[in-house]
Amino acid sequence: MIKRIGVLTSGGDAPGMNAAIRSVVRCAIYHKLEIVGVIRGLSGLIREELRQLTHRSVSNIINRGGTILKTARCDEFLTKEGQRKAVEVIKKNKIDAIVLIGGNGTYQAGIALEEKWDIPCVGIPGTIDNDINGTDSTIGSDTAVNTALEAIDKIRDTATSMERIFVVEVMGRDCGFIALQVALGGGAEDVLIPEKRFSLRDMCRDILKGNKRGKISWIIIVAEGAHIPVHHGAKAEEIARRITKITSLETRVVVLGHIQRGGIPTAKDRILATRLGSAAVDVLMKNKRAKAVGIAFDKIKVVDLRFAVSKKHLPVGNFYRLIRILT
Ligand code: F6P
Repeated sequence: MIKRIGVLTSGGDAPGMNAAIRSVVRCAIYHKLEIVGVIRGLSGLIREELRQLTHRSVSNIINRGGTILKTARCDEFLTKEGQRKAVEVIKKNKIDAIVLIGGNGTYQAGIALEEKWDIPCVGIPGTIDNDINGTDSTIGSDTAVNTALEAIDKIRDTATSMERIFVVEVMGRDCGFIALQVALGGGAEDVLIPEKRFSLRDMCRDILKGNKRGKISWIIIVAEGAHIPVHHGAKAEEIARRITKITSLETRVVVLGHIQRGGIPTAKDRILATRLGSAAVDVLMKNKRAKAVGIAFDKIKVVDLRFAVSKKHLPVGNFYRLIRILT
């Protein structure tokens, strides 16, 4: 019987994590469960950084970016010793189950806790990358795309006025989701992502062709993890340097970086987080094991954690086709 649960956020923060924490805490209390917040994710779990949470602890956070529980990346948890320490803390504090809010790395930790140490876990997808299976969208991804788009709209003003090519780098080490979304939503001319090989020569040929027709400004989106052959230093810098070398056209580079992880969560992310927080508590109340919650076609979905971390398919071809038609 589950009486006391722990909740943590781990890995990269994502806007909407607070809304998820609030929902988990208040739904747990509604079901008469005790709830403990783990500070600094898995690292805090190992170090026994715990805080009892009440209804009031999560007041006025639904609209705040970041995570009140703080978060961290934790290599120590990858070791058996790190996991043993974490499990000792869980047992000592009589925590019956853990709600993990995070991305792939966080879910992998949940799988280890379940499979190696028999600790009940449920995952809530919180990452701007939208690379978790079993949900159409992860908490934070909508806000991140909107933040990046807002910046790109501003870049477009100066790109058009000064007739330049802008290469804009967005987040996504292993996934081109943000890049594809902002390319489509921001009307970019090209996009480079980890899931697709690209040819600089073809890109430059298209730029030169367009230039002959009188086209002067371009926005090219580069995902952080895009495959760029023989690259040195920042990817966007390298792409821009090579475009100028081949086309003799003027380029500028903008790396949007961590601004994409901050800010007020959009309505979509808050609502998603609130529904998923409640779904996660329901999963634990029903004694389901090693599950992750998500929403697909507006319906709550409960999938295995192992499925949730399997490679997510991005409809890359459809996106590229549309970008080509619209350019
Ligand atoms: O949280 C996901 C993410 O934002 C990726 O898109 C990015 O590659 C990575 O985190 C950056 O991580 P860090 O902030 O630890 O450098």
